[in-house]
Amino acid sequence: MTPVFETDGLVFKTDGLEVLAFMLDMDQDAVDDLGLCLNDEERRRALRLKLGRDRRRFVATHGHLRHVLAARLGLRPSDIEFEIGRLGKPRLPRRKCGADLRFSLSRSADVAVIALANDRDVGVDIEAILPVPEADEIAALCLPASEHASYAAQEPERRPTDFLERWTRLEAVSKAMGCGLGQPIVWDERNWTATGFVPKPGYVGTVVVRN
Ligand SMILES: CC(C)(COP(=O)(O)OP(=O)(O)OC[C@H]1O[C@@H](n2cnc3c(N)ncnc32)[C@H](O)[C@@H]1OP(=O)(O)O)[C@@H](O)C(=O)NCCC(=O)NCCS
Repeated sequence: MTPVFETDGLVFKTDGLEVLAFMLDMDQDAVDDLGLCLNDEERRRALRLKLGRDRRRFVATHGHLRHVLAARLGLRPSDIEFEIGRLGKPRLPRRKCGADLRFSLSRSADVAVIALANDRDVGVDIEAILPVPEADEIAALCLPASEHASYAAQEPERRPTDFLERWTRLEAVSKAMGCGLGQPIVWDERNWTATGFVPKPGYVGTVVVRN
């Protein structure tokens, strides 16, 4: 029998956009159950991870993703198929699903977040609030000038979280657009809505959807 998992980790739901968060550190039996629905490629990717903790988190993330998508599409978790875009963005093949459900996934430490949107590109990114020693250098390199000025004007104690909020926004945009690491991002803010959220205490996140 297919095990039933808690899939109601709702963070918020609004206007056809849904964001769900899951804790990943669970006992091995629960991870094994979640892993039953993974395909060969996901199993291979899990096996390539050196640390047992990382393997468990990967399996739990992909198991949750399959269960969430399956519940929305009326399929079995193991029957979900993915297409991978040129720069790595996974998507559901529309012809097989009969619906244009789009999703984005992010994982940081022991939390995973899944964003779902109907008929609209969506990107999500989360980060655990931990010190990033090179934050100032990355901000100088990656943030647009006006944003960088506002980051640099923050009180020092606010800066680490402020950096991660801005970083998740950049990543969420690049994931919504399907860009890969280091691809230049050209986006017109008027076409997108970005929403900051707290997936779990101690984390920040941003979800971006096309208007
Ligand atoms: C590949 C990338 C999207 C992964 O992001 P990350 O923060 O390391 O990891 P996350 O857990 O948040 O996201 C990983 C998930 O994103 C998805 N993903 C991978 N490539 C993607 C792409 N090109 N577009 C959208 N989503 C992608 C996958 O679902 C992946 O999950 P999986 O590895 O378990 O299959 C990211 O490293 C990246 O390339 N970002 C762009 C960075 C950038 O250029 N920023 C501007 C800096 S100046």
